Amino acid sequence: MDYQDFFRIKDDWNIKIEELKDEQLVHYGSNLLCGNGYLGYRGTLEEWGKDEYQACVITDTYDMADGKWRELSNSPNALFTEVKVGGEKLGDYPEEDLMTTELDFDYKYGVFKRNSKAKNSTAEIVSERFASYDNLHLIANKYQLNNLEEDEVEIKLGIKGDIWDLNGSHLENFSGEYDSQKNILYLKANTVEKNIDLITALSFDFKKGEIESLKVENEEKSIYLLLKIKPENKLVKFERNMLVYSSNDLENPLEKAVEAAAEAAAEGYQQLKQEHQHVWDKKWELMDIKVAGNQLDQLAVHFNLYHNIIATPAHSEFLPIGARGLSCQAYQGAAFWDQEIFNLPMFLFTETETAKNILKYRYHTLDGARKKAKDLGYDGAFYAWISGKSGQELCPSFFFKDVISGRKIRNHFNDWQIHVSPDISYTIWKYYIATDDLDFVVDYGSEILFEVARFLHSRVHYNQYKDQYEIIRLLGPDEYHENVDNNAFTNYQTRYALKKALYFYYKMENEYPEKLKNLKEKIDLQESEVTAWQEIAEKIYLPEPDENMLIEQFDGYFDLEDTTAEVLEERLIDKQEYWGWPNGVAVFTQVIKQADVIQLFTMHDIFSEEVLAANYDYYEPRTQHGSSLSPSQYAIVAARLGRAEEAYDYFETSAFIDLMSTNKAVSGGTFIGGVHTAAAGGIWQLIVNGFAGMKVNRKGLSFMPILPEEWDSVEFNLNYKANKLKIKLSSDSFTVKASASNKNLVAFKVEDQHYKAAAGEEINIKI
Ligand code: BGC
Repeated sequence: MDYQDFFRIKDDWNIKIEELKDEQLVHYGSNLLCGNGYLGYRGTLEEWGKDEYQACVITDTYDMADGKWRELSNSPNALFTEVKVGGEKLGDYPEEDLMTTELDFDYKYGVFKRNSKAKNSTAEIVSERFASYDNLHLIANKYQLNNLEEDEVEIKLGIKGDIWDLNGSHLENFSGEYDSQKNILYLKANTVEKNIDLITALSFDFKKGEIESLKVENEEKSIYLLLKIKPENKLVKFERNMLVYSSNDLENPLEKAVEAAAEAAAEGYQQLKQEHQHVWDKKWELMDIKVAGNQLDQLAVHFNLYHNIIATPAHSEFLPIGARGLSCQAYQGAAFWDQEIFNLPMFLFTETETAKNILKYRYHTLDGARKKAKDLGYDGAFYAWISGKSGQELCPSFFFKDVISGRKIRNHFNDWQIHVSPDISYTIWKYYIATDDLDFVVDYGSEILFEVARFLHSRVHYNQYKDQYEIIRLLGPDEYHENVDNNAFTNYQTRYALKKALYFYYKMENEYPEKLKNLKEKIDLQESEVTAWQEIAEKIYLPEPDENMLIEQFDGYFDLEDTTAEVLEERLIDKQEYWGWPNGVAVFTQVIKQADVIQLFTMHDIFSEEVLAANYDYYEPRTQHGSSLSPSQYAIVAARLGRAEEAYDYFETSAFIDLMSTNKAVSGGTFIGGVHTAAAGGIWQLIVNGFAGMKVNRKGLSFMPILPEEWDSVEFNLNYKANKLKIKLSSDSFTVKASASNKNLVAFKVEDQHYKAAAGEEINIKI
């Protein structure tokens, strides 16, 4: 498929969509999202509504409206606009053929631009907006009508509360008001379950065109102004600001929203934009990756970095990163293991504070994880497979439906997919070695590590015949095989998590005895438990490479039918069928949904290259990549094996998952759109851990660089133990430049050689 079927490249940061295609509306909405970690306003036109998937998702507004799915709420739409010129409707409505529209999106600053031209007149609609990083509650917009031949222009603007929701209407008790002195409207509503007040305010200011008459129109869920405008030199131009605050943000959201709307109007669009861009400039100084030699790839890298950043509530330590970010309500705006293993690494080595916030979120949700463990008969912290604000399990027991019988399927993502807990422990360790931030581990991480160890202790089974601990009845990363025993990935992660808990237990015993004592009292931790962790860590069964150097994904995997995804595709009765548990086409075969043993290799550096190669060659043809998490992990291992071109092919699959999406918007009645944020974070890993071959472990920082021939060079920044490095990789050289402000020498290894970079030093290495 050609990218030009989806978009055009303007430059390294900007894409253009020259003609809107109806079947792509859902993707534009997600891909052209203006966001800032607090809200996500979809890439839709001002005249569009729920049929065109218009939405503005607000963080920290979890609510259940249908008795089944708790998800984030959408705000009413304060950018809603309907225009009539000379009594005739003007706008680009999918069903009508009135205008042609070009869209532009700037991934540097998250700016959405439209330019629509009428087919039957000279009139144009031009508008631009961004979700501010300077005030996270603000979306600023400027809107302009050009070349108007008629003098009679009617504009309906206001706040539309009749909005798109995936699973039930979340808002009720709407009331709105217009303050004519200040030109401010607001709409107040509350969520149906949790009674969260949500305020959407709107300020506007006409820059060109005279308001001849104004009428307030209150509808059941909306408040509008009907304006008659006299154009000025054939132009009508206004700036407006949409502000959203909830009662979870502060005590009096209404007062704040109205005040902030007035302030934004007083500042004006240009000024607001500059302040917003300033924040992005600082982010890009840390997080940008420059790819030379292929502009399409550069643009795709920017797309993915942008989406990983805007999905992340960096402003808070209490909120998760949603698997679809804030691009829509799908996946409930909630965290999966994706958060630690896919989204976080980029922040860990750039905006480290954000990585810490993400981990603190897991600290603040410990009670939810404890509750889940207790409810299911275990001890300690069993983290939710789908985790919202409280950390309690949001994953419903019946996730998929059998499309043939119509019956619901009892999936066990919530109770058997246990690896999310040790994945969090793993990430705490990674955070520690990348930052040396022992205070964080002592004050927050240790409680997580101990509670996860405790959970694992209660979850393993002792096999007395083999004198080993096993983990039975679980799901590894490959979700098509539920109810398996000894998933290699999970067993290795379990040992790792136990060992790290023990490491910090003894470290605290020596260095922070008082804090350890307090923590032990707080969580009632007994010495005998710690002894048990030691024993389990020593005796847990870890599937080793067999005579063919293969690691079996789980007990009995090699005995399953050996086939491929292509063959299974033909066995489907209905294309929408679920491939997994209990009866899907993949269940009794070796076809896997996503990287599993390969996932183990990207996270643990304990196997030889021969083992990596044997397993890569074995599992790769058997992997469907039915999850967007998978391609980046295969790419990393391919790059480690020196197979740059295979890694590059996986880069392409991963980087364009959303940009060139042909997925249908709705499958089996379920909306499946939205940005795949794990794939977005995976792009950073693919470049840094894959092409640059970066590893960070107790031995330190090392690189095994390899560049695909499609690129001339790639450059990125690292923040390692509070020292900054600029890295440039080209086909025959690897350059490390230490920032002049670094406090320490930075030791690192490239291939087999050791180096040390002093502050301000640049080291060029031939590769
Ligand atoms: C994948 C999981 C992932 C989830 C959310 C599923 O399709 O199999 O590994 O955590 O999506 O992205």
